[in-house]
Amino acid sequence: MHFLLPLLVALFASDATAKICRNLTVAVNIEARQGVFSIPDLQGNLDATAFAQRLTSNHGNYTEDALDGYQTVEGTYNISTTFCQPDTNASGTTVQVLSHGIGYDKTYWDIRYENGNYSYVDVAVDEYGYSTVAIDRFGIGNSSHGHPLNLIQAPAEISALHEITKLLRNGSFPTVPTAFKNIITVGHSFGSIQVYTLSALDPSAQDALILTGFSGDTAYLPATIAAWNLHLARLNQPSRFGSARPRTTPSRFDRPVNLYTLLAQSLRGAGLSDSEVQQELTTTELANLLAGSNATSTTSDSAAAAPQDLPAGYLTWPDFSANQYTFFYPGAFDLGLGLQIEATKQPVTTGELLTLASFPGSTGFAGPVQVVTGEKDAIFCGGDCYAVGAGSSASNIPAEVAPAFPNASVFEAYVQPNTGHAINAHYNATGAYHAVQRFLGANGFGAS
Ligand SMILES: *[C@@H]1O[C@H](CO)[C@@H](O)[C@H](O)[C@H]1NC(C)=O
Ligand SMILES: *[C@@H]1O[C@H](CO)[C@@H](O)[C@H](O)[C@H]1NC(C)=O
Ligand SMILES: *[C@@H]1O[C@H](CO)[C@@H](O)[C@H](O)[C@H]1NC(C)=O
Ligand SMILES: *[C@@H]1O[C@H](CO)[C@@H](O)[C@H](O)[C@H]1NC(C)=O
Ligand SMILES: *[C@@H]1O[C@H](CO)[C@@H](O)[C@H](O)[C@H]1NC(C)=O
Ligand SMILES: *[C@@H]1O[C@H](CO)[C@@H](O)[C@H](O)[C@H]1NC(C)=O
Ligand SMILES: *[C@@H]1O[C@H](CO)[C@@H](O)[C@H](O)[C@H]1NC(C)=O
Ligand SMILES: *[C@@H]1O[C@H](CO)[C@@H](O)[C@H](O)[C@H]1NC(C)=O
Ligand SMILES: *[C@@H]1O[C@H](CO)[C@@H](O)[C@H](O)[C@H]1NC(C)=O
Ligand SMILES: *[C@@H]1O[C@H](CO)[C@@H](O)[C@H](O)[C@H]1NC(C)=O
Repeated sequence: MHFLLPLLVALFASDATAKICRNLTVAVNIEARQGVFSIPDLQGNLDATAFAQRLTSNHGNYTEDALDGYQTVEGTYNISTTFCQPDTNASGTTVQVLSHGIGYDKTYWDIRYENGNYSYVDVAVDEYGYSTVAIDRFGIGNSSHGHPLNLIQAPAEISALHEITKLLRNGSFPTVPTAFKNIITVGHSFGSIQVYTLSALDPSAQDALILTGFSGDTAYLPATIAAWNLHLARLNQPSRFGSARPRTTPSRFDRPVNLYTLLAQSLRGAGLSDSEVQQELTTTELANLLAGSNATSTTSDSAAAAPQDLPAGYLTWPDFSANQYTFFYPGAFDLGLGLQIEATKQPVTTGELLTLASFPGSTGFAGPVQVVTGEKDAIFCGGDCYAVGAGSSASNIPAEVAPAFPNASVFEAYVQPNTGHAINAHYNATGAYHAVQRFLGANGFGAS
């Protein structure tokens, strides 16, 4: 009988589990009291620059200056989600809800690139047995879009997250009949701010919190917004965020335009060398102009490639250099992945930018909390999470969040080495994923 043992081990070792996922659009009822802002119209890129100038001005608080009053927004909107569970098809009693940061969508948690070393979902589901629900935040990606100034703001997005947790709790999440006992929410950056704020609004909505790419230090936000050099999303990536679609009516003289070939030819014609042409087309705003254009030119009228046609108040950084400055630590990421992320990025709204820093100073949340931030995070640590201010007794900047959680059962600040803000896109992303799952397991929130 014992001769079977090596065979069984070999079978299990090679029979890697594979998660079962489905994309689900979930209708949620949003209700949020939020700001009514009035700002000068955004018509072109320079208006976006002027907006960023006012936002970062030393003059005062632009959120306050632009505020005309408050209103309650209500309505039913779609949240685009991906639900995953282990291939045993057992959803268990514990689910992790994943909420992305600015510039990303729900795919941040399951990045497909080369060696497959970037998927948070693969680790949480396949290696630790959790179910996961990754959401596109309200207003972003394939979730409903809306007025970028007065609808798509932090409070409405938090309301959407809250509804998702309630549906999972009461067994009403579409196609998933389980009434989950434990809801763990995992945020990144602006997603973490929303998870944190929800824990103050309704301390029992979530059972454990993982706040990645986060600290309580907002001192570096102006530098971040300046580095973003904001442009209108629809001008930056017309094929994804605008309404640009090449003419596809074939005629003898008129073939669909391949923008890539056209630009490459023009640049060569202007005297650039092949390697300069290559750099222009991959690392500058020309790469953004090209993003999505193959898809729109080769897929006539397919919804799959439909441009988002976003209003002018949806903004983005112009190219990978601004993305790198704020999200990546040089030497610790694969440039090919960085460029893929730039080409598939998502925008940020004026309403989000005016409301993202208005979060409460503390929360009554009583479960376990882990803050996980990259050692070199530019946005929440100014590039060095160990550079605590004089007079601070904390060992790092994320650890300074502890007093905001006076009632937490456990608080841990975890600094992920050699990593920038976008933890999931750095070489050692899986190292951070294991640190999170170990924390959850050690504090009573294992998968079942
Ligand atoms: C869900 O949508 C994503 C993005 O469109 C796609 O890549 C993926 O294949 C879809 N997954 C399933 C299980 O349909
Ligand atoms: C700016 O004003 C808003 C709206 O009144 C407020 O919520 C926020 O806390 C203020 N920010 C700072 C840094 O004072
Ligand atoms: C939500 O999506 C459904 C189709 O999946 C669509 O019929 C409906 O209009 C959408 N609702 C909103 C508010 O976008
Ligand atoms: C898992 O569940 C899905 C959805 O209910 C179902 O379509 C599928 O057949 C199930 N797979 C297995 C292996 O039981
Ligand atoms: C994934 O990353 C780990 C740790 O960084 C490394 O040891 C492993 O070789 C990588 N896997 C692949 C397939 O590259
Ligand atoms: C479940 O929660 C949702 C969201 O709050 C709510 O609309 C629905 O009525 C609840 N269903 C049950 C059966 O309690
Ligand atoms: C777009 O098309 C051009 C020309 O066919 C090709 O060289 C380029 O690699 C394509 N880009 C993408 C992102 O598919
Ligand atoms: C959004 O939906 C479109 C069309 O179904 C799909 O091509 C795209 O990959 C989806 N994106 C995300 C982030 O789900
Ligand atoms: C922490 O719990 C105590 C006792 O239940 C309560 O009085 C206090 O308000 C809570 N702290 C916060 C910040 O909510
Ligand atoms: C990768 O991450 C893990 C978990 O944080 C850490 O223990 C390990 O030292 C990291 N490896 C490198 C090479 O930085």
